[in-house]
Amino acid sequence: MSITGNRVQPPAPRPPRQETAARLLNSSARKSFDPNVEIDWDQPLDPALYGMTPEWCSLYGTELWESMSQEQRVALTAHEAASISSTGIWFEMILMQMLLRDIYWQDFASAHVRFALTEIGDECRHSAMFARAAQTYGIPSYKPGRVLMWLGTFFKSTSTGSLAYGGTLFAEEILDMMQRDFMRDARIQPITREVSKIHVTEEARHIRFAREEAIRKAAELTRLQRWYVRLSLGGVAFFIVRTLVSPEVYRAVGLDPKQARRAARHNRHYSAMLHEGCAGTVEFLDSIGLIGGPSALLLRRAHIA
Ligand SMILES: [Fe+2]
Ligand SMILES: [Fe+2]
Repeated sequence: MSITGNRVQPPAPRPPRQETAARLLNSSARKSFDPNVEIDWDQPLDPALYGMTPEWCSLYGTELWESMSQEQRVALTAHEAASISSTGIWFEMILMQMLLRDIYWQDFASAHVRFALTEIGDECRHSAMFARAAQTYGIPSYKPGRVLMWLGTFFKSTSTGSLAYGGTLFAEEILDMMQRDFMRDARIQPITREVSKIHVTEEARHIRFAREEAIRKAAELTRLQRWYVRLSLGGVAFFIVRTLVSPEVYRAVGLDPKQARRAARHNRHYSAMLHEGCAGTVEFLDSIGLIGGPSALLLRRAHIA
C-alpha cells in the first residue's frame, strides 16, 4: 500500500508467491551462466581501456579529475570497479544468509524454496566472478571497514521480511543501474562488460523476487515495525552508497585519500548519477510504505532521495 501524502491506497492484486517462484525457476533454467566458462579470462588487458564507465567514477567532472593524467583516470576506474564489486560480494554474502534463514521453516519442496536456493547458487557464482575479475586486474580486495563488517553481521543475523528484501533491493538495484551502463560501453575492458552482462541478466529475476516479497511482507507490518524497517532501510542504503568506493582506491592511484574523498563527497555529477539511478528503487519502496521519517533524511544525506 502507498502511504505517501498520508493517503493509504489498497494494494494492487499480486500473483501468488508460488506462481512467481515457478515463473522465475523457468527463467533460471533458460538463462543461467557459468562465468568460469562464459568469460575469456585469459584475454589480454588493453591498457588504454577504462575499468568501468568513467562517468560512474566518483571523481568524474571534478577539478581533481581534470588534473589527473589519462593513465591515472584509467587506473582509478579499474580500482573503483573492484571496490564496487567488493561491496557486491559483501552484500551477496549477507543476502545469501538472509535467504537461508527465510526459507528454513518453509516447505522444502515448494517452488519458493527451490527458487531461493537457485538464487543462492547464482549469488555464489557472482561473488566468485567478482573476485576473479579483481584478481585478473591485479587489484586487492577492498573490504568494508571493521565497523561496517560488524553492522553487516547484525543486519544479516536479525533482518527478516520487508527489511531483508528492501535492503536487498537497494544493493541489487544500485549495482544493476551501473552495470547496465558498463555492459554496453565500448570504452571499457571486455572483462568488465562480460561480468556486467551476466550479472544484469541473472539479477533481473532476483529483483523481481525481492520486489514481490517486499510487497507481501510490507503489507503485514505493524506501525512500530514499519517505523523500524524505514529507519533501518535508510541506514542500509546510506552505508551501501558510502561503501561503494573505498578511500584506498585513491591511494592506489597516487592521490591523497582525504583530498580525493572530499572532492567525491562534493561532486555534484556523482550525486546526480546516484540520485537518478536510485529513483526507481526509492519510488518503489515509497509506494509500499517503506520510505519516510528518518529514512528520508538518511537517503537525502546519501544523495539518493
Ligand atoms: Fe548477484
Ligand atoms: Fe542478486
